[in-house]
Amino acid sequence: MENYIAQNRQRFLDELFALLSIPSVSADPSFSEDVIATADATAEYLRAAGAQNVEVCQTPGYPVVYGEYIVDPNRPTVLVYGHYDVQPADPIALWSSPPFEPEIRTTDIHPEGAIFARGACDDKGQFFMHVKAFEAMVATGNVPCNLKFMIEGEEEVGSANLAGYVKQNHERLACDVILISDTGMVAPGVPSLTTGLRGLSYVEVEVTGPNRDLHSGLYGGAVANPINALTDMIAQLHDDKKRITIPGFYDRVETLTEGERAELAQSPFSLEAYKKALDLVDVAGEAGYSTMERNSIRPTLDVNGIWGGYTGAGAKTVIASTAHAKISMRLVPNQDPKEITELFTQYFLSIAPAGVTVKVTPHHGGQPYVCPTDHPGYRAAVAALSDSFGQKAVPVRSGGSIPIVALFEAELGAKSILMGFGLDSDAIHSPNEHYGVANYFKGIETIPLFYRHFAAEAKA
Ligand code: BES
Ligand code: MN
Ligand code: MN
Repeated sequence: MENYIAQNRQRFLDELFALLSIPSVSADPSFSEDVIATADATAEYLRAAGAQNVEVCQTPGYPVVYGEYIVDPNRPTVLVYGHYDVQPADPIALWSSPPFEPEIRTTDIHPEGAIFARGACDDKGQFFMHVKAFEAMVATGNVPCNLKFMIEGEEEVGSANLAGYVKQNHERLACDVILISDTGMVAPGVPSLTTGLRGLSYVEVEVTGPNRDLHSGLYGGAVANPINALTDMIAQLHDDKKRITIPGFYDRVETLTEGERAELAQSPFSLEAYKKALDLVDVAGEAGYSTMERNSIRPTLDVNGIWGGYTGAGAKTVIASTAHAKISMRLVPNQDPKEITELFTQYFLSIAPAGVTVKVTPHHGGQPYVCPTDHPGYRAAVAALSDSFGQKAVPVRSGGSIPIVALFEAELGAKSILMGFGLDSDAIHSPNEHYGVANYFKGIETIPLFYRHFAAEAKA
């Protein structure tokens, strides 16, 4: 196995480069042919690696790529999930090299080099580790479990059509555990397993005042200004302790015991390094919680975008007719995205000042997820990471979301093991996203060990 990986090292990189060269931006319809081409390429790589029954499954949106390798129906089955779509590369001007022309450069954190490209870490580089690990397993006659692959193309836009696919394919997707590499590690070189993901409620709001843009001198002071009203309403969504003011928002929030909080605090985290990495003078967040708690076990509300009025060159004296914002709420266990969206909507409408009308439109959402550390899949992942890193994996509750993971559990009755190899500094969703070459190969080396340990766990 090790030999096979070493001998094919360059090709494993070249093929990932080829995949990264296709701009599979799911959010922007102008890339739709590229997204579809990426699905086809993914299917081709799965076939070439030895997968059976490979299929590019059509959905009302982008296809789901499926493939399997059944060694023995009596052996345990692992379903690998990943996504071949990527976030938009914007703002492109901030990239040091073109986002869809991958290149390797060294960084302080990746002295052995990192692959710079949109999707390098999230998630092409990470799901492709699974394809290459599988190829190495088949080539060396070393497949201890049944494998199934489900690689989707709409994760970055909310996985709307994957839910339907999963609901219609219970039998095909039946498995003992789901294995996902689409998360990160707490620190360079520190093997990590993500034990929780936050849920999400995402809304867009529109505040409308007069029926047209107005002269801000002739009308200013006499009619409600939608931008003033919107910013005022947004300001009311947090109190001075940075707690969210929406009535009922915290009602179902799971409170951690002091013991659990102490365990979280064990994780290697340096506030100084965190501030330095982001050039921050100070951090900010909900009173009474640490930075690590604020971005993992606590729910949040953030404006992701806000627009309205005149933003061009120079000054234009105008009161805009409308103002808009996109707002995300990250949710923690027991909060329900539908209920939170409802609570947000009621509250937001209730604080609208006189003279404007407010509209709230929900976008995608998703349930939070927690993974128990006593699950056989979790134990297998700890054992595999111990073998390859020589140290015990750290459990981490992540602030990010992979909304479909909770649906997998509900529909397929299987837990997901989140074994990611990215780093926070890999800049996913940002300009200059990259993925360490060493992390890529560490993943390829660790994944076969997972299957070996999982097969053993299942026998035990
Ligand atoms: N892979 C990320 C989520 C992630 C990254 C979780 C790092 C934990 C650690 C995923 O592709 C993502 O970006 N999810 C979105 C949600 C989606 C509905 C757009 C997110 O978290 O914003
Ligand atoms: Mn991802
Ligand atoms: Mn993402």
